[in-house]
Amino acid sequence: MMRASMISLCLCFTFLAPSFGQNKKMSNASLPQAMHAFVQDLMDTMTLEEKIGQLNLVSIGFDVTGPVVSENVEEKIQKGLVGGVLNTYTPVAARKLQEKAMKQARLGIPLIFGYDVIHGHRTIFPIPLGLAATWDLKAIKKSARIAAQEASADGLNWVYSPMVDIARDPRWGRVAEGSGEDTWYGSQVARVMVEGYQGDNLAADSTVMACLKHFALYGAAEAGRDYNTVDMSLRRMFEAYLPPYKAAIDAGVGSVMTSFNEINGVPASANKWLLTDLLRKKWGFDGFVVTDYTALNELVAHGIGKNEAEVGALALKAGSDMDMVGEVYLNNLPKLVKEGKVTEAEIDTACRRVLEAKYKLGLFQDPYRYANEQRAKQTIMQPSFVQAARDIARRSMVLLKNNQQTLPLKKTGTIALVGPLAKSQRDMIGNWSGAGDWKQAVSVEQGIRKVAGDIKINYAKGANITDDEQLIRRLNAHGGELDIDNRSSEDMIKEAVATAQKSDVIVAVVGESQGMSGEAASRADITLPGKQLDLLKALKKTGKPMAIVLMNGRPLALKWEDENADAILETWFAGTQAGNAIADVLFGDYNPSGKLTMTFPQVVGQVPIYYNHKNTGRPFGGDELDKYKSRYLDVSNEPLYPFGYGLSYTTFAYGDIKLSKNTLTAGDSIQVSIKVSNTGDRAGEEVVQLYVQDLVGTVTRPVKELKGFEKILLEPGQSKQVTFSITEEALKFYDIDMNYIAEPGDFKVYVGSNSQEVKAADFAFSKK
Ligand code: BGC
Repeated sequence: MMRASMISLCLCFTFLAPSFGQNKKMSNASLPQAMHAFVQDLMDTMTLEEKIGQLNLVSIGFDVTGPVVSENVEEKIQKGLVGGVLNTYTPVAARKLQEKAMKQARLGIPLIFGYDVIHGHRTIFPIPLGLAATWDLKAIKKSARIAAQEASADGLNWVYSPMVDIARDPRWGRVAEGSGEDTWYGSQVARVMVEGYQGDNLAADSTVMACLKHFALYGAAEAGRDYNTVDMSLRRMFEAYLPPYKAAIDAGVGSVMTSFNEINGVPASANKWLLTDLLRKKWGFDGFVVTDYTALNELVAHGIGKNEAEVGALALKAGSDMDMVGEVYLNNLPKLVKEGKVTEAEIDTACRRVLEAKYKLGLFQDPYRYANEQRAKQTIMQPSFVQAARDIARRSMVLLKNNQQTLPLKKTGTIALVGPLAKSQRDMIGNWSGAGDWKQAVSVEQGIRKVAGDIKINYAKGANITDDEQLIRRLNAHGGELDIDNRSSEDMIKEAVATAQKSDVIVAVVGESQGMSGEAASRADITLPGKQLDLLKALKKTGKPMAIVLMNGRPLALKWEDENADAILETWFAGTQAGNAIADVLFGDYNPSGKLTMTFPQVVGQVPIYYNHKNTGRPFGGDELDKYKSRYLDVSNEPLYPFGYGLSYTTFAYGDIKLSKNTLTAGDSIQVSIKVSNTGDRAGEEVVQLYVQDLVGTVTRPVKELKGFEKILLEPGQSKQVTFSITEEALKFYDIDMNYIAEPGDFKVYVGSNSQEVKAADFAFSKK
């Protein structure tokens, strides 16, 4: 009985896997014949062990990014038992290993070199959540392009990015690595990141192969606890979580990394429905799939097989081609073939995919293409890259509050620069900062001195980021470099208050340390850690104007801060140039233009909270005494700051929406126009956002969904007409049979400054 129902569910999954439309890339059959012939000839000369070797990815070098490290790597390379290496970079180190593979292994098959280039390689850009907040796809693409130029000059040809996991739970530390909660926007970011890394020609020496991750649904870990179980309806999967992965596939991403979580009860690395039926058959992906770090070994703990041999067979058959670090394939596949549990043809399929990737990267033409010391010297951290890092960093910052024009600050007078992050360099480059050197990062203090040289700075640390000794030990054990002051928190706060009293204005630089977000960095309490709130409360009592500069890798719950600070600037972890970029914004050399791509809750109990939710049958309408409504007793349903929100030093006014017609017919489009004016006294950029709502559907639809945006620059007093085009495509969703369709009926279109402050208009959609 149990068995039968499981089988019917699987069939149903396969049957229901909807198609997202045609993949633009060449199909496998149309890939250059020369590559197929070359790879086949090579494989004809390979032993079974050598083929299995190509499926083995080892970690050796400068970083440890998982629970175990690889052993006897050089010996294995010589024996042809390694296909790729992760965590080794620099032309010298990469060349050394490549030479082993080329000169000492029997067949001389080049290694592929992978690394976690997440938001820059040596020149570090804002964390991805900050990059997303730029709402500037050109800037995001540029950051990936620069990262590719640096990484490819530094011995690498494969980067583990973009991470496109949609995330609605800020407790999950890895929200820092993605572009936030929105599916449509996340899909745009996924596309431009792949384009930035891979360029037009993967074999060029300045491009790298991107690796889409984590396939799939990793952002929906229950309770925001990393690596936790995911359980989700097919509808939510296809509507909310899968499109960004599909967008990266359509952009031609060369490789895909499995996620740690399960999908419909089967962990990703052993999930045939996911890796073969959906990814390859429906979506037409023809690159290779790598598991996440030791994810194959972990299939045993998931309880999907008794031992590594069993799970190894499952994973290979499911479509996991390359095994990251765990050596499940290396240790088990030879025996599994002998026992008839895996066929050599199945190994050939995986091996072929890995070899094709190397071919596409041009490694068979020149295995040392990415190991050129001269190019590394000229390329890495060149002034134009550093300048781009500063520019992109300031674009990523989001002004959350600004009472009575507290900001921008004047470049004269005295500032009380307070807070545990005010002098930090380590934290500026954030988590997953690749080969970035934090000693080259600019602190806020350094930035202020540079940008506002005449200002007098009175500094006090005021508080540690955290005083929790256990947490400090844990963070420092993994590169936290937390700078802990041993004075009592009372003494530190007292000193900060005295500092504030003799200054004109307080700039409080507070937040999380970089290690508090990222992998394995979930937090159950998302308020400011440690005694930082006590510090802010004491500073507030001085009556001096207080601007908070926030650093954090996730939305935080900031109710007190919002009610009491005069200004709040969200700066994420802004990268190598963080301090300069922050000072540019604080002193008005740049007018902030970033907008949130993830909702900030009032309190953690509202999580998951996201703008494109469903209405429910009992939406709360605002009547306090109306009991039987979808609401909390102790907090309103509203976020603290909604998706799409962010202020400017100027103000913008929106006119009314004008539609080119009131009915959209299939195959046609409606033009949605709105006049946006700069009503303040300085130039500024505004992100004009377009949302659509389907009022009645055969399945329920979200209250609104982002379907477009435009970032425009307006001089003081200037107005611009912004026009969006809506076609049937923007109205589509999955019906009850999972067909991707638009249904005739009534719609609303919203245009505005964020997901809540919008103008509205009505239109209808008709099939004819
Ligand atoms: C992470 C991946 C990363 C890999 C290699 C894993 O633990 O989940 O995002 O790419 O390690 O470092």
